[in-house]
Amino acid sequence: MTFSRFFFTLKFIVLIVHYPNEEFCVQTLLVTGGAGFIGSNFIRHMLKTHEDIRIINLDKLTYAGNPENLKDMAADPRYRFVHGDICDGILTDALVRESDAVINFAAESHVDRSIGKPDDFIQTDIFGTFQLLEAARKHGIGRFIQISTDEVYGSTEDGCFREDDPLMPSSPYSASKAGADRLAYSYFVTYRLPVVITRASNNFGPYQYPEKLISLFVTNALDDLPLPVYGDGLNVRDWLFVLDHCEAIDFILRKGEDGEAYNIGGGNERTNLEITDIILQTLGKPDSLKKFVEDRKGHDRRYALSIEKIEKLGWRPRHPFGEAMRETIAWYRDNRPWWEKLKSGEYLAYYKKQYQTL
Ligand code: NAD
Ligand code: DAU
Repeated sequence: MTFSRFFFTLKFIVLIVHYPNEEFCVQTLLVTGGAGFIGSNFIRHMLKTHEDIRIINLDKLTYAGNPENLKDMAADPRYRFVHGDICDGILTDALVRESDAVINFAAESHVDRSIGKPDDFIQTDIFGTFQLLEAARKHGIGRFIQISTDEVYGSTEDGCFREDDPLMPSSPYSASKAGADRLAYSYFVTYRLPVVITRASNNFGPYQYPEKLISLFVTNALDDLPLPVYGDGLNVRDWLFVLDHCEAIDFILRKGEDGEAYNIGGGNERTNLEITDIILQTLGKPDSLKKFVEDRKGHDRRYALSIEKIEKLGWRPRHPFGEAMRETIAWYRDNRPWWEKLKSGEYLAYYKKQYQTL
């Protein structure tokens, strides 16, 4: 081999090692937990932006799953809903066999509920993920996206978490998510399953079950009910508009590298009191609705993410925070029947127990 040919070959090898992934193309996508908040926004986004895609939505319809979230998509021939549990190995096996990629959104997702009763969190978030990974391994799936969370890093007073920082989850919810996150990674290392992990910050937007800070406070304010602020209200979250999150997952599905984790943040750090004030001011409601209540047990003070890694790959959030908040608040104002129906039965029993002092 001549000298110049040797260098040409070397350059070619370096290029392949540096850009290992062709863009991943998906035809049939299995989405789990697609009847929940982020999953339903994601399915709508995918059906609207990818003409040739077929989506199977496997959802157990827990208290947080709601078929109404996708009623505008239900008649689309490219969409199929399957009512079932990700812990059911026979079902996950059959559905994974039909699919070329899996995105696992299904989870118990509310920190407060995990403090009261962690059982379902361990079962769904860890064992359910295991069942999906096993089916994916058996059928040689093309891509497995595990939707993790920024809460796996735990809390930090300063600086931002990077993907290779240690995981220090502090609630049963975040510990179960961290377990699933690392279990998915172990399938990449051990079996070379093409796993990619995403860790997003706090989402807000339409169709969020009214138990989370923004959806609860907006709907309570609309009804002139108290807004229960935990502790001193100075805990900080980085708010991410759900449509930005959906675009990021779509991007990672196509361009993420196997075995990698990607932070997805909005770059909008706000204290809970700042969020509360925006809601009250936007709706023209009095400050007296704000009520300080007992703090959450083990309450993480601050979450913050570095998104340098995903930015380098080519994604960044594009919805300005103020506009996205106004759009979100307007959506709850204009879609009262959607959330009024949810604030009954099981919800009221939970609410009474959770906010005893209100
Ligand atoms: P959600 O609670 O609104 O929806 C969860 C969905 O999963 C529901 O439709 C529910 O019916 C379904 N589900 C629960 N257990 C199931 C099971 N055993 N089998 C099948 N389906 C089941 O949650 P979300 O806020 O949309 O969060 C979706 C995912 O994103 C979760 O994995 C969560 O950990 C992660 N996440 C959420 C946020 C956020 O701010 N909401 C941020 C980062 C990551
Ligand atoms: O960071 C990502 C995580 O964000 C996701 O992984 C979780 O699924 C999602 O639920 C969310 O967790 P948080 O605990 O951060 O979100 P939540 O909306 O429950 O609370 C946000 C902040 O608001 C937190 O500091 C607690 C506070 N809070 C919340 C509620 C429900 C209140 O002060 N009062 C409340 O009534």
